[in-house]
Amino acid sequence: MTASVNVPLNSRGKIAASLPAEQLAEITALFEFRRTGYSLDAPFYTDPSIFKIDMEAIFGQHWIFAASTAELPEPGDYVTVDYGPYSLIVLRNDDGGVNVLHNVCRHRGARVLTEAAGSTGNLVCGYHSWTYSPEGNLIHASAPGETKFDKSCFGLKRAHGREVAGLIFVCIADEPPTDFDETAKIFEPYLAPHDLSKTKIAYQQNIIEEGNWKLVMENNRECYHCDGHPELACSLFPTWGLTEGLIPPHLEEVWNRNKEAQSSLEERCRRYGLPYEVVEQLDTRIAGIRISRESLDGDGESFSADGRRLSKKLLGDLRDFRLGRCSMHLQPNSWFHFLGDHVITFGVFPINEHQSLVRTTWLVADDAVEGVDYDLEKLTYTWKQTNLQDKAFVELCQQGAGSPAYEPGPYMKSEYQVEAFINWYVQRVQEHLA
Ligand code: FES
Ligand SMILES: [Fe+2]
Repeated sequence: MTASVNVPLNSRGKIAASLPAEQLAEITALFEFRRTGYSLDAPFYTDPSIFKIDMEAIFGQHWIFAASTAELPEPGDYVTVDYGPYSLIVLRNDDGGVNVLHNVCRHRGARVLTEAAGSTGNLVCGYHSWTYSPEGNLIHASAPGETKFDKSCFGLKRAHGREVAGLIFVCIADEPPTDFDETAKIFEPYLAPHDLSKTKIAYQQNIIEEGNWKLVMENNRECYHCDGHPELACSLFPTWGLTEGLIPPHLEEVWNRNKEAQSSLEERCRRYGLPYEVVEQLDTRIAGIRISRESLDGDGESFSADGRRLSKKLLGDLRDFRLGRCSMHLQPNSWFHFLGDHVITFGVFPINEHQSLVRTTWLVADDAVEGVDYDLEKLTYTWKQTNLQDKAFVELCQQGAGSPAYEPGPYMKSEYQVEAFINWYVQRVQEHLA
């Protein structure tokens, strides 16, 4: 694990405190009287003030998944990550760590870097050429002598960045929550054998979903709707989230096949020393997590129609393709699938109360050759289709939340992880507002 933490210079925002007292009281009451076991009231998905509070209490306070190692392998490589009103530069530094800088010029506020990704030495603002070092220090302002000012006071504002098992997280709070250390200890042994440092991007997809970020996350937390994913159903057992006694008759055969596949997967994991147990702490800690290694249908290797591998190159030190999917969910904005032949990362970046960017990235071994070791269309097919279907589901719910006829409905037992996500969200916001 490597970590690079810069001292943040930004002061904590207080959007909540700036709301009129009456409005804040109404919002606080919505959180307080949330009906457990039911979906949220409409304003959680439609109200710009609640979105601002989400940005302050969730995206302003917690560790957010930003990118993977493969997106910035060399010093000077960067990605820009935008969510809500924020734009961050995540830059690989010479020490191998990451610098996280607010992408707001200290002259008159222009975006400094305008590309989604690239490589740079110093950072030059395109407006009047103020130039910053990769650490964010202002090193040059043109028209010298016209105005005297202390350059050391006008560096780019910094935030925190850290890397665990090849995943890069950012936190813009002055003091990030410390229990992420414990969560990192949980997931690092699961992910390390896939060795993200030796992967490359095969494909990255950005979709804008016309839905609140919470609806995107909720949708991902259940497979009650998985009949709507025919491509995914070839490899992902649609009994996910169900337990013995909850299996409907039409899924009994699938359930039995799943049980058999799971026990042979676990046997292989024991042989290779790979952890597979379910760790589920979605709403019982600040850095909520769920991780496990679960079987895939068919040959059990990858997200293909027959379960066979989609890339011929194994990742990291793995010795077997039949490793199912090591799946992880991290509050508040990410989920991942680590397979023997590729990895898929998913990050949700809220735009406003009714739009979210969903970024999906397919990673393969860095020596895998497109057209030889993998076919890009086949590699990405299942999740491209699934993402489009999920986008449609999320958008239907957003439309519903905007209707005066909407009222919260009950979660089914198989939707317990949706409930856990909402519990986590409500707890974190209430702590912030207290
Ligand atoms: S706004 Fe960046 S140099 Fe002027
Ligand atoms: Fe889905």
